[in-house]
Amino acid sequence: MASNKSTLSVFPPTLYAGKVALVTGGGSGICLGIATALVRHGASVAIVGRTQSKLESAKATIEAATSTTNKVLCIAADVRSFEAINAAVSATAAKFGRLDFVVCGAAGNFLCAAEDLSPNAFKTVVDIDLVGTFNTCKAALPLLKLSKGAIINITATLQYKGTLLMAHACAAKAGVDALTRVLALEWGQYGIRVNAIAPGPIDDTTGMTKLMPSGARDLILSAIPLRRMGTVRDIEFTTLYLFSDAASLVTGAIEVVDGGEWLASPMA
Ligand code: HXC
Repeated sequence: MASNKSTLSVFPPTLYAGKVALVTGGGSGICLGIATALVRHGASVAIVGRTQSKLESAKATIEAATSTTNKVLCIAADVRSFEAINAAVSATAAKFGRLDFVVCGAAGNFLCAAEDLSPNAFKTVVDIDLVGTFNTCKAALPLLKLSKGAIINITATLQYKGTLLMAHACAAKAGVDALTRVLALEWGQYGIRVNAIAPGPIDDTTGMTKLMPSGARDLILSAIPLRRMGTVRDIEFTTLYLFSDAASLVTGAIEVVDGGEWLASPMA
């Protein structure tokens, strides 16, 4: 089956004209792809990450890919600090005048057996993935109330069965799933939709290179019912759908984008 590397989009190029998004973790990987897709479809985007130089490089990548200028704002901030992400939200509104969409994608992960994991190592990943997601959603709430905007949290599938050597990330992502559902319940009254995307194995990402043993790709691929690895484009398209009016009744959903991988995986 062909891989999904097409630059063609089924979505109109002006779909998000005049809209403003903030994407944490937007300096690389899946969230850089999401930020690029939003700009390609007309939005202005603030990308948030810890390292200014990485963000500047990501901005150049987005501008080159979309033939745009002045549509990307780089904001160095650590999502573990509410004050920092709150300031990032304010800076986004100051630059672009509003906020419609938030993608909470900042994440940390590494392989470590639970018995070898220090309390601080466990806390670090929970702080980035889960506390960081809460901080970002909470900071954005006042502006999302004004725009009746939408949130997408980037979660995972590894917590569904439990994944060896990832107690920290599984616990954090299970929390992200729960947080997504509760915020959908509580913030629906404001017209704010809160959903999550759970990517499976996505080629050319840190998750694959850092977490998958070398040589495991073929094994993973053979177990995926749709017989292809995910691409960043797959997550971009799901994001474009979930933020669009086509998904106006969708909230509290966790959209798994993995070709059926977790359902088929024999691994606990
Ligand atoms: C064990 C480790 C460790 C490792 C760090 N620690 N790396 N323990 N094995 N490989 C411990 C440290 O010893 C320390 O504990 C604590 O974690 C904090 O480490 P710091 O380096 O001080 O933290 P920080 O600089 O904030 O770095 C955070 C990080 C880092 C998560 C550890 O790797 C990071 O920021 N990565 C960001 C990029 C990333 O990993 N992306 C992958 C996302 S993939 P002590 O006790 O010594 O103080 C993903 C997809 C999942 O999320 C889905 C896969 C299919």
